[in-house]
Order: sequence, then structure tokens, then C-alpha cells
Amino acid sequence: MAVGIKVFAPASVANVACGFDVLGFALEGPGDEIIITKTNRKGFKITKITGGKLPYDPEKNTAGFTALKIMEHLETDIGLEMEIHKKMPFGSGLGSSAASAAGAALAINIALGEPLTKAELLPFAVLGEQIADGAYHADNVAPSLLGGMILIRDTKSLDFHKIYVPDGLHVVVVHPHIEILTKDSRGILKKEILLSQHIKQSANLAGLILGMQTSNYELIKNSLQDDIIEPQRAHLIPHFYKIKEAALSQGALGCSISGAGPSIFALCDNSFIAENIGNSFKKIFSENRIGSDIILSRINQEGTRLI
Ligand code: HSE
Repeated sequence: MAVGIKVFAPASVANVACGFDVLGFALEGPGDEIIITKTNRKGFKITKITGGKLPYDPEKNTAGFTALKIMEHLETDIGLEMEIHKKMPFGSGLGSSAASAAGAALAINIALGEPLTKAELLPFAVLGEQIADGAYHADNVAPSLLGGMILIRDTKSLDFHKIYVPDGLHVVVVHPHIEILTKDSRGILKKEILLSQHIKQSANLAGLILGMQTSNYELIKNSLQDDIIEPQRAHLIPHFYKIKEAALSQGALGCSISGAGPSIFALCDNSFIAENIGNSFKKIFSENRIGSDIILSRINQEGTRLI
């Protein structure tokens, strides 16, 4: 029996409050697993999908499309079979489809003898994720694939930059058991903003990045604000403001929607604060009869990896 190449691709938090579509970071887990096996039959095929209902047609599947595009680019029709093991729900705000795309990109590349770097794989994974939510943005795929906190300075050319993050940074994420599709959450956004909103948001984004680079927690705290997207999406997530208030009153540096929601993240400067906040998040949702999962994590610097 042929031995498969198995990779792990982590969940990610996109936007990070003030960086809509341009900033994201990778979590330690959960993450999807992709297995690639070489076969004698030429061409690419998805043979198994667990953990979610997804199309087996590679053209319609985030991971499959990523694989096809890489194989096309490398002009290979070698026989490859893919298994997709979803370990996180769709529509969670945790970058589920981005993780599948990132995992597919790395697994295919390893199977083909690593002709491309991770950075060179990024455009294919971004195209793959587009299959899932219809929009072209890299703020989940880039951190999931490359690890760390990533700024995508230009989405079209995929000019990305890894941002240094202080060692003491801890993340807590709550995933309430409701589903929000990214295309719906994007569909409600206004196409225009005020100049005053732009000024505030760009100052906060610059402040957040500077705060990260200089380990200035006060600056991180003051900058972790989103006055444009969060107010438009908050109503999609039950008890959002109660959750946010719980995080801030217990010492979080900031708290906002993870990606398109419904997950909510908070950044903290120590693990005890993060754990206490996680317990409060869980309590608030359970008191309102909504199941939830809590993720406590550091920022994952490795991204997608062979396991
Ligand atoms: N930046 C994207 C959004 C991430 O907020 O719509 C969702 O995957």
C-alpha cells in the first residue's frame, strides 16, 4: 500500500480588529489534515472526505482546486489522490476553508518533491479558498500556510509581510455553535466609509503593528479596535457585546470578531487572564443555551506542516 503524505493546516483569526482583509494570525489548533498518496493512475482525485459535507469534484472543492492549480502550473499529470479530514466547522470564523487550501498546497508540493516554496504556494491556496467564499482575500490563507501574524499589504500581488509578535501574547477564541457564511457576512457590509472612519482605522492598524513590533502592550491595547466592520456584523452574533465586555473587564488587550464570525477572539498578555476569559465566554453562551468551544492558543509561528 502506498504511504501518504499527511499535513496539518491550522485555523486562523482574520482581520484582528482593525485589519479587515489585510491582517491575520495562525492558531496552534484546531486544524485540517490533508493526506496525499501517489498512484499509478494519472491525474488528481479526491478519494475521501471526513468531518463535513464537501464536493468530491476537485473543481468545486477548495483543497481540490488548489491541488489542480499547482499541478497545472507545474505541468504534471502524475497520479495523486487526496483525503480531506475536516477538523473544524464551516462558517465558524476560524478560516476552515483556508486551512484546507493551505493544507492541500503544502501536501501536493511535498508529494511533487517540493519544487515551490511556501510563499510560492500562497497564490494557489488563495485561489482555492475563493471557491468557498467567492471573495479573493488572503488574511486566513496566508497565516494558516506561513504561520505567525501576516500583513497582506496588497491582496492582488500578494505582497505579504510577517509581523513580529511578543512572546507573551496569548489568544482566547470562543466558537459559539452557530454558522455564519462568509459570503453573507461580507454581503451586509457597506461599500463606502467616512473619511473620519478611515483615519481612525488606519491609525489603529499602524499602531497595532508598531505595538507588536516593539512589544508595547499599551499600544496594542489602544489599537485593537474596529470601528468599521465590527459594528456592522455584531448583530449576527448573539451576545457579542456581552462577550466583549467580559473580555475587556477581565484585562484582555482587545476583543473582536474572528474573521467573518461567529467566533470571537481576545488577545491577552498572560495565560491566566486568557483562561479566565475563556471560562466567562463559555458561561455566557451556556447561560443563553448556546453551545460553544473555547480555544486557548499562542500565535502559531509554523503554519501548515508535515505530520
Ligand atoms: N477578512 C475576511 C472577512 C475573513 O472578514 O470577511 C473571512 O474569511
